[in-house]
Amino acid sequence: EKGAYEFFMLKEIDEQPGVIRGLEQTYLAEDGSVKLADDMMNALNQADRLYIVAAGTSYNAGLVGKSIFEKLAGVPTEVHIASEFGYNMPLLSDKPLFIFLTQSGETADSREVLSKVNQLGYESLTITNVPNSTLSREATYTMLLNAGPEIAVASTKAYTAQIAAETILAKGLGMLKQTAAAADFETGFELTKAANAIQSLVDQKDVVEGLAQKYLGTTRNAFYIGRGIDYQTAIEASLKLKEVSYVQTEGFASGELKHGTISLIEENTPVIAIITDPKTAALTRSNEQEVISRGASVINIVAEELATAEDQIVLPEVHPLLTPLAAIIPAQLLAYYTSKERGYDVDKPRNLAKSVTVE
Ligand code: M6R
Repeated sequence: EKGAYEFFMLKEIDEQPGVIRGLEQTYLAEDGSVKLADDMMNALNQADRLYIVAAGTSYNAGLVGKSIFEKLAGVPTEVHIASEFGYNMPLLSDKPLFIFLTQSGETADSREVLSKVNQLGYESLTITNVPNSTLSREATYTMLLNAGPEIAVASTKAYTAQIAAETILAKGLGMLKQTAAAADFETGFELTKAANAIQSLVDQKDVVEGLAQKYLGTTRNAFYIGRGIDYQTAIEASLKLKEVSYVQTEGFASGELKHGTISLIEENTPVIAIITDPKTAALTRSNEQEVISRGASVINIVAEELATAEDQIVLPEVHPLLTPLAAIIPAQLLAYYTSKERGYDVDKPRNLAKSVTVE
């Protein structure tokens, strides 16, 4: 039920801190160790490479997952768009393990890949929000997100829940592999910190609403830019905005703009930069100067420790691997308020279905 909310999307954005805390309660023991089935963890531990397969927002959560699995567990990880992977399988490693990320568990493109994986005799894990869904039943193992029903077509809480689930899984796997990164990573502490950061960001809705009205109310197009993990967030941020507001939006690697796309920048084109990585913050800021000098209007979403007085949205500190959990929140809110400002049905954007059951 929507209760006092006009649209489910905003309700689901607000639910995210609770969803992350719920995952901690379900999958973390008192001593901080990971509670996941031994047979599943052994199967993951035997794999020499992880293949994450998904569509849409779940694919974008997989892009973030790649960094988390590689950094915490030290396992090479590939991320694939389901509709591509099914008919153009890459050369597989000796011992692949497939991870299907899917909110609904019913996406036809992902189901097609799973049935091929099953024919090939490989093991698989589905991370999903829907118990007993097709992808859950047909995979070897399931990890549930327990995020509660996601009604709005635009996925929000499933994205952050998938990243939190990947974090827990990577920690468990890293401990089996005895990586130093996993030993140093305090999952409960870091996820709680991220949940608190999300809470403080959803509490500042008015600021984001004002920015949506000022910069995105009438524009035809917009860009999200970032580098590294911020680029992964930019891809999901742009999908959110285009999906519900019909503003043509691209998520772009900041450094790549000057290789062609910068020709699209006109007077007042909104460029939204995500900056959380100290290694590349100065570079992204200089890429911003390049677009500002061509007339762009810039909105900055910046980590607290890198922020200046001019940055419009400041993100509370979170672990460097988990910055997408914080940075995506203002982007979800920008999408929501832009759609509302333009008078659209936020929960049911045109031409889209919640679950895509055709290939
Ligand atoms: O249920 P799934 O996670 O498998 O769905 C995948 C995509 O269809 C879904 O994420 C879609 O991109 C959303 N509408 C994005 O907000």
